Amino acid sequence: MKILFIGSRLYDDIDYYVREKGIESILTESNEDAINLDLPDQVFIVPRGMDGPKQIAITHDVDAIIPLIGIDPPLIQVARMKEEIESEYGIPVIASNVRAVELTSNKINTKSFYKEIGVVTPEYQILNAPDELALEFPVVLKQGEGQGGKDIKIAHNMEDVTQYFEEFDQALCEEFIEGSEISIEVIGFNGEYVALPPIYKGETTLEGTHPLNKVKLGPCLVDGLDNNLVQETAYNVARKLDSDGIFEMDFMYSHKRDQLYAIEVNTRPNGTRYLTTATCGVNSLCELVNMACGEFSLKSIFDKLEYYYSTEIPIGNYEGPEASEPKKSFDNNNFVVHGPAGYQRITIRAKSKKELENLINELT
Ligand SMILES: Nc1ncnc2c1ncn2[C@@H]1O[C@H](COP(=O)(O)OP(=O)(O)O)[C@@H](O)[C@H]1O
Ligand SMILES: [Mg+2]
Repeated sequence: MKILFIGSRLYDDIDYYVREKGIESILTESNEDAINLDLPDQVFIVPRGMDGPKQIAITHDVDAIIPLIGIDPPLIQVARMKEEIESEYGIPVIASNVRAVELTSNKINTKSFYKEIGVVTPEYQILNAPDELALEFPVVLKQGEGQGGKDIKIAHNMEDVTQYFEEFDQALCEEFIEGSEISIEVIGFNGEYVALPPIYKGETTLEGTHPLNKVKLGPCLVDGLDNNLVQETAYNVARKLDSDGIFEMDFMYSHKRDQLYAIEVNTRPNGTRYLTTATCGVNSLCELVNMACGEFSLKSIFDKLEYYYSTEIPIGNYEGPEASEPKKSFDNNNFVVHGPAGYQRITIRAKSKKELENLINELT
């Protein structure tokens, strides 16, 4: 089995798994100074874009391609390459197709998609000028494209909206939802989908603090919210996207209205994955490898399911005891440290809440 991976930044997360399975690894990367270039069997530095990876895949006769791209902008090129290379060369590309990327990589498209399939999403309007505003304050102003809270502003009054329009000439304007933020990963291949346990990412704030900077918990235990509803909704969205790979979805739950709202979908490896793995034992990146090997099935996922309490804490620079090999896996660890120096986070798991508390004290 020979797999081409595109992008090296996340490769250290699955290097151990690729080795364990005896897979021959080829990797393409556009940045010669990128991390993890010492890990795969073979590395090719190629220009940005998908022409390089495509050529390498064909000339090296790989069995499958796995894009490991954690950011939005290249996804559409990857999706186009997938459709081309699958139909012309029959090499499976474990990634989202063009339609799914178009629907999810732009928040405005996602909103209309939700309306179309009957999934509840916060009230919204597309604003072309501040005076078109019809929703009540506070409102959330966003751009169609962006991640990690980029270009997002909570507007409390008209002045805030006017200020936002000094920088942009259009905004997706959404009612502010006071409540809990929840993320969930769905993985799917060849028409089979499974929704993994939902993760709790904190309460929304009027300052718009992004969940990246909050303490998170798995599984999600929010008073009044049924996790089955989150899983069922996420499963349905993924099914209607009708594509392969990872679907990470953000939801909000309003306690006051007892209503679950769908926010956005990311069809790529995402930051929720460490907590998902800690909580249930299923690692979405490893499952991409299993999809490539023809070993992904609902049964194999259900056979892997484990049940843990877990948490993820931003720690900056980790200084606690060293993890056992493989360091990025919970196979021999009850914690995994990840993220770049200065912005590291630690994901910790335990069989009980009490044990989790003890571990947190020990490690942070
Ligand atoms: N309608 C909303 N009500 C309350 N908070 C929101 C709303 N929309 C976004 N936010 C806050 O902004 C964050 C980022 O918004 P999101 O749409 O997920 O964009 P991004 O792609 O940048 O993550 C959310 O996680 C949440 O904290
Ligand atoms: Mg988000």
